[in-house]
Amino acid sequence: VIAFFQPKLLRGQHVLVTAGPTFEAIDPVRGITNLSSGKMGFAIARAAREAGADVTLVAGPVSLPTPRGVVRVNVKSALNMLEEVVDKAQNATVFVATSAVADWRPASMLDRKIKKDATGLPPTLHFVENPDILATVAQSERGHSGALFCVGFAAESHDLLANAQAKRLRKGVPLLVGNIGPDTFGQDDNALVLIDETGVRELSRDSKLSLARKLIATIAQKISVGDQ
Ligand code: CTP
Ligand code: CA
Repeated sequence: VIAFFQPKLLRGQHVLVTAGPTFEAIDPVRGITNLSSGKMGFAIARAAREAGADVTLVAGPVSLPTPRGVVRVNVKSALNMLEEVVDKAQNATVFVATSAVADWRPASMLDRKIKKDATGLPPTLHFVENPDILATVAQSERGHSGALFCVGFAAESHDLLANAQAKRLRKGVPLLVGNIGPDTFGQDDNALVLIDETGVRELSRDSKLSLARKLIATIAQKISVGDQ
């Protein structure tokens, strides 16, 4: 009901959001993944839609309902996610990467289940690094020129501010958002810190939906500056 009266700050914009973990298969019955409920990304997709944007949500395996009016694309692995994001980014104007992408995947996916054997020794797995989806998009021509405004999230267990500031520059994004833990995983509440070229602003503890609405308002303000 409240959403109905909100100004449509993102009318005419196309917002692309990634959310949830990725799942990297080891064999047909096993894999590695990250902890992520997807709640923050789904809240951002909902808030962007409320603000009048066309919204595409590329989601890893999570059990959350699709926000009303949002186009959802389900993916499993980081490579699947990259493919969908690169495609959908072509006509997006805002990209918000909240996904907890697995940093590594098994070097090869075995087509048969690994069996225990008589030696009792565990198998040795080999990993390769996954592509950085956010950096790929942010450093593409549209990301680089600002035609596509890119926002990252930082998952840090220590030295949040220093790590997040370095990460913003390394990824080449104008805005990076840090989770102020501890333990936001799966929770409905969070606190955020927004880091841009001017410095740091804190969004105090609130529901993920309220924080998402504030983040969307900030993004709307940033992308409209050039239009005045
Ligand atoms: N990200 C991504 N693709 C990856 C890894 C991360 O798009 N392969 C995005 C995440 O969605 C997030 C941002 O990059 O928006 C930061 O993710 P994070 O895991 O904090 O950064 P990494 O660069 O992976 O660094 P590290 O995990 O070593 O701290
Ligand atoms: Ca990572």
